Amino acid sequence: MLLKHRVFYPLMVVLLVFSLTACDFFKPIEPEVVEPLPPEAIPSLHKAYEGYFNIGVAVNAGTMNTHNDLIEKHFSSITAENEMKPDHILRYISGNELVLDFTRGDRIVNYALQNGKKVRGHVLVWHSQTPDWFFKDENDQLLSQEKIQERMAEYITKVVTHYKGKIDAWDVVNEAITDSNDPDHIYRHKDYDKKNGSLWNEIFAGSEIDYIAAAFRAAHEADPEAKLYYNDYNAVAPEKREKIMKMIRQLKDEDVPIHGIGIQAHWLFNWPSAGDIEDAIVEYSKMGLDVQITELDIRIDGDMEKKITLSRKDKERQADRYKEVFEIFIKHSDKISSVTFWGITDDNSWISQEPLIFDRNKNPKPAFWAILDALGK
Ligand code: XIL
Repeated sequence: MLLKHRVFYPLMVVLLVFSLTACDFFKPIEPEVVEPLPPEAIPSLHKAYEGYFNIGVAVNAGTMNTHNDLIEKHFSSITAENEMKPDHILRYISGNELVLDFTRGDRIVNYALQNGKKVRGHVLVWHSQTPDWFFKDENDQLLSQEKIQERMAEYITKVVTHYKGKIDAWDVVNEAITDSNDPDHIYRHKDYDKKNGSLWNEIFAGSEIDYIAAAFRAAHEADPEAKLYYNDYNAVAPEKREKIMKMIRQLKDEDVPIHGIGIQAHWLFNWPSAGDIEDAIVEYSKMGLDVQITELDIRIDGDMEKKITLSRKDKERQADRYKEVFEIFIKHSDKISSVTFWGITDDNSWISQEPLIFDRNKNPKPAFWAILDALGK
């Protein structure tokens, strides 16, 4: 009996200590609890950048209400994330006339103007988020060049006239250029752009510049005060940049009213290089174009579909990268009139990799502070 106790009790103690430490060992690491700063301790981003460029943000019907505190404090320009795209505005065709619905777009534009923000109009001509029927006749056949150009002009004239005087900058044409590295391919086409072709470019194959020129002319005629942009992703990658510049040179040679380039900037921690970003800003500007960064977010992984939660270390790397790109923007602020983030907090980004500067609790991330740091004040 005594022996039993002698062995049993110490064994129990050893087991207990082991299980407690093991428990601790296997316990998930508690997320760091950070006391949120009071709002007055957080400076306004757009005010900090006054004199450099506008700081913009993409908002939608939801975030415009749920995140109005952050929108109003930190941003001086607003883009509708989806609500002013053709698939939101175009309803149907009655006889030969387009029937449009501006309700959702109006809500965002009015909200922006009531709060003293500029508005970027996004977007008039795009292969994506445009209903298929828009390109087709009643027999489901693709329209002729002449017919689609007429329809496009009607759409642009109606939309730009509706918003006349309210829009600072319009993305007139979005993503018309190919991702193919073949120097002979300029425009996006289904044969070699594996992911997405463009019905615009299919209909105008060989003379794509015609509908693009017509789009800019129609927008300018409807609102001569609005600044007009060509907007695209990968716009700083040298091969694609060359193609975009070739198209814009042609437009300029034909006296088409184009005022600027929108660099979307869905970037990675390690791509594109700082050198490519800087070269592109300088080269576009040399063509007499205003530069706007239109859709900035910075993610860790190239695969957009991947869902990723950033570690503390990742967030520091993200902050360094935001600082790096803002230092370039600041250096060239004479060439850049606005920098727009594509979303506000990480949980409402179109990319599930926490690519923005506010976290899901609306607190500023290290990236937010890094962007302020970049000013060196
Ligand atoms: C995205 C929106 O953020 C998503 O909500 C929508 O489902 C798809 O479009 N290039 C553009 C933007 O010009 O309009 C896109 O926005 C992102 C890529």
